[in-house]
Amino acid sequence: MTFPKDFVWGAAAASYQIEGAAYEDGKGLSTWDVYCKDKKHVWRGQNGDVACDHYHRYKQDVALMKQIGLQAYRLSVCWPRVLPEGVGPVNEKGLAFYDRLIDELLAAGIQPWITLNHWDYPYELFYRGAWMNRNSVDWFAEYTQIVVDRLSDRVTHWMTHNEMQGVIGYGYGDGVVAPGLKLPFADQLRAGHHMLLAHGKAVQTIRARSKTDARVGWAPVPTLFLPATDAESDVAAAREATVSVTQRDVRSTTWWCDPVHLGHYPEDGLALYGDDAPGTEPGDMETIHQPLDFFGVNIYYGQNVRADDQGRPEVTPEPDGAQITAFQAPVTPEAAYWGALFCWERYKLPIVITESGMSQMDWPSPDGKVHDPQRIDYVTRYLRQFARAGQDGVAIAGYFYWSIMDNFEWIHGYRERFGMIHVDFQTQQRTLKDSAHWYAQVIATNGGNLAG
Ligand code: FCB
Repeated sequence: MTFPKDFVWGAAAASYQIEGAAYEDGKGLSTWDVYCKDKKHVWRGQNGDVACDHYHRYKQDVALMKQIGLQAYRLSVCWPRVLPEGVGPVNEKGLAFYDRLIDELLAAGIQPWITLNHWDYPYELFYRGAWMNRNSVDWFAEYTQIVVDRLSDRVTHWMTHNEMQGVIGYGYGDGVVAPGLKLPFADQLRAGHHMLLAHGKAVQTIRARSKTDARVGWAPVPTLFLPATDAESDVAAAREATVSVTQRDVRSTTWWCDPVHLGHYPEDGLALYGDDAPGTEPGDMETIHQPLDFFGVNIYYGQNVRADDQGRPEVTPEPDGAQITAFQAPVTPEAAYWGALFCWERYKLPIVITESGMSQMDWPSPDGKVHDPQRIDYVTRYLRQFARAGQDGVAIAGYFYWSIMDNFEWIHGYRERFGMIHVDFQTQQRTLKDSAHWYAQVIATNGGNLAG
């Protein structure tokens, strides 16, 4: 089991899911604050008002990360904490929180990787059309500049959007996450085009303003297809399915990743979407297509496909009794192999898994420990597959477990525990799960102990 010497071992979280302090120190409202107010939206009517109270407990949390030996921590900045109205006046207290957090991380020897947009969008800008408004590109650039000006003397690793497919598909299309819109397909694509432009302009902003040598990427979630068998025809079918647009929805990989990495929307997508495809202005694709330093990718699972009689991809159903997590997500470690390989083949950038992980119903045992052997098993299998991709020539550059600690899992509230650190949401007590102790060894041996 070999990982490159400079492979980055990390874990991730996101602002709304852990910070709490939703109404403190001048923070503005985010679309998630407002979405949760309607008790129908989230499991048991829960919200992120307090979450892990990380805003106040960040020192303890960083100390635990240090105990695990994390080399990097992926965090996100809450845009309305920094700019309560999304643009305009800066909230110094909000910005100062990230100053303190970054300093604490660096003092612990942990490299901060910042995501600028992990979904908690300023509610004031929602009134102005949010991503539907083309001006949103400039709003995001303004916010990016403020954060980069303040933190880039110490922060070198940046990601723009997290899973924009989710924001657009679930938030603007299906209406099942904030901001809860059910827009026509053409409008979803138009909002998505603005998000892509905002990505490009933010990358330009980071490069222009960073005080240090910036490393820039993003964190899309590809829809992955895996070969049902090792047959070359099935591998070809899985590859084709992964890099094709075949549905009139926004969940394909290439609709989002081709513009960013190749500078154009995929032909098959344009043909399928027809008049619904977004209008572009001269220069748009150049703006979107900025050089990036790594391909960040959230990998949770893939669907099996095989080649049909004509060699076309055909999804094969999950076998009865196939493993699933508490989240009902299939356990498909091969996603870390094929996902890395297919993305590498197409986009030719070092692959960083910016999220991967599983939830289960963990609780402390009478011995005071939190035993989560299935998580250890899960991460072992995914990391072995990721290492295999590396052996087959993929540049594998880093891995961020989702999540460093149990947190507010969006519409599933506190039901889903993804963390390597257990959080008691009544007392805010933290307990390292067995997986955290085990991950410390993974990091210490640079994956050497995964060989088994
Ligand atoms: C991803 C999100 C992340 C977390 C995990 C479980 O889609 O990016 O915030 O919710 O799923």
